[in-house]
Amino acid sequence: MKKIIDCKILGNRRFSDEYSLLTLTPADGSPLPKIHAGQFVQVAVPNSKNTFLRRPISVCIVIDSRNAFTMMIRNAGEGTRNLINMSTGQILNVVLPLGNGWKVDKSIKNPLLVGGGVGQAPLGQLANEFYQLKVRPTFLLGARSKNEHILDPLFSFFGDINKTTDDGSAGFHGLVTQHPVVEDLNKFDMVYCCGPTPMMKAVAKICREKGVPCQVSLENEMACGLGACLCCVQDTKEKGNVCVCTEGPVFDINDLNW
Ligand code: FES
Repeated sequence: MKKIIDCKILGNRRFSDEYSLLTLTPADGSPLPKIHAGQFVQVAVPNSKNTFLRRPISVCIVIDSRNAFTMMIRNAGEGTRNLINMSTGQILNVVLPLGNGWKVDKSIKNPLLVGGGVGQAPLGQLANEFYQLKVRPTFLLGARSKNEHILDPLFSFFGDINKTTDDGSAGFHGLVTQHPVVEDLNKFDMVYCCGPTPMMKAVAKICREKGVPCQVSLENEMACGLGACLCCVQDTKEKGNVCVCTEGPVFDINDLNW
């Protein structure tokens, strides 16, 4: 069930001028609502004259033992810049959990988790849910350079990592769709993908060609996050235009007109 809560920042792990990982817990000590992999939160940005709208941020991972969750913030403007500069102990007002996450079930034994850039973040909770099902996923992670492969230590706990960089500074030099692991795509029974739209479309195309099921988490622009402003609409096959914030952000590629 959706809640609006004040969350206390338990930690801000700053990786660079561009990336921070914030850990949050309800400030009043109340239990976090259940957050499913692929869901997101809307965060109000404090102390910002020009940022009126909440910012949609994916949940990276839920830490049950601390009644906390983490979210990766990329500095993409004044709002997110303020967020990455927040300090431990400060309060953020958050609406959560929002949207529909990935479909995960016991029938999936060999998933491939594909992430690009900050789109790698929500794969954390997805891997956590597979861990609870005793399934070890394979990761295929793309980034501009080695400095953006921030979550490797987390992912390597859950599964085997394959990585690419645009500049060749780590892993395979090239796009995720060019990585050798894609040649063996048929050995996977589900592909989960989150990242820039061109990357997701390219992954979806290959999955379709090879007949491998695929779910993607769309990154459409959002404002209200609640299905009211219609700024996030996506054309779908069965339902026509739908709000990504309420019907998604995760979609089966067969539901999209890609
Ligand atoms: Fe407003 Fe989706 S963000 S309707």
